[in-house]
Amino acid sequence: MGKTFVFVNQKGGVGKTTSAINIGAYLAEAGKRTLLVDFDSQANLSGGVGIKPDNKGIYEILAGKITVQESVRRTIVERLFVITANIDLSGATVELIGKANHEVYLKKALEPVKNNFDFILIDCPPSLGVLTINGLAAADGVLIPMQTEYFALEGLTLLLQTIKRIQQSLNSSLNIEGIFFTMYDGRTRLAQDVVRQVSAYFKDKVYSTIIPRNVRLSEAPSHGLPISRYDPVCPGALAYQSLVSEILTGKEKNPPVAGILENVNNVTQATKQSPLLEEIL
Ligand SMILES: Nc1ncnc2c1ncn2[C@@H]1O[C@H](COP(=O)(O)OP(=O)(O)OP(=O)(O)O)[C@@H](O)[C@H]1O
Ligand SMILES: [Mg+2]
Repeated sequence: MGKTFVFVNQKGGVGKTTSAINIGAYLAEAGKRTLLVDFDSQANLSGGVGIKPDNKGIYEILAGKITVQESVRRTIVERLFVITANIDLSGATVELIGKANHEVYLKKALEPVKNNFDFILIDCPPSLGVLTINGLAAADGVLIPMQTEYFALEGLTLLLQTIKRIQQSLNSSLNIEGIFFTMYDGRTRLAQDVVRQVSAYFKDKVYSTIIPRNVRLSEAPSHGLPISRYDPVCPGALAYQSLVSEILTGKEKNPPVAGILENVNNVTQATKQSPLLEEIL
């Protein structure tokens, strides 16, 4: 049976969409049938794989206007498919909240195709609202992209509390698949410090691959291409390829969320108390 992963971080611009596209592309290149689900009305993921949003996307599925099978599209990469989003999805929040079981609409919508794919990757918007809750309810694992900056840690406690709540109510099998660092600039001591401290606390929940800041990664979406097709030898491409190898190896990274929550509080405190950070900020 296929695995569904959801990219979540309520902080905006941390690399959720870039990671979903490029991890999806390398999974497909590794022979895995992969479905990307654009679950953000900004529709950045759809554009990033070269598909213009139209009226055959995730909103229309949730609204019962089309079937999920009708909305799955091919992309330029063999075995990589996408369900697009469009601006109408922004209204879905209000529409869903009025409905019974509104947290499991996405899970139900994807059920008919779940077994057709090895991986389904859901790209969420930057909030912990009803769309992200639907993403968490539909997933087997959460992938958390994190920027290596001071404020990156600030929202993490709330995110982990949300995951714990979903585990206790809607989705007991949800686990944190892993945390990875994005847009890393090793020239700053702050970035190094954040990586060191977060890794010390989260231990084997953290992937060892770090995604560097790499302009080629930010250029690729405007060409509608994943990095594997835009510039397969740039540092960003090699990093995403390596991250996918780690994901496929499926390292054991499953300490209970409660334990992690404690760690996050510690790390937030520790980071605040770090003389280096105080010096920089
Ligand atoms: N490793 C990287 N190096 C350089 N630029 C990057 C990298 N990762 C992402 N970017 C760029 O940073 C911006 C934010 O990335 P992205 O859209 O993936 O974040 P996001 O978390 O999905 O944002 P949002 O919260 O708005 O959905 C984009 O312009 C993207 O091209
Ligand atoms: Mg995004």
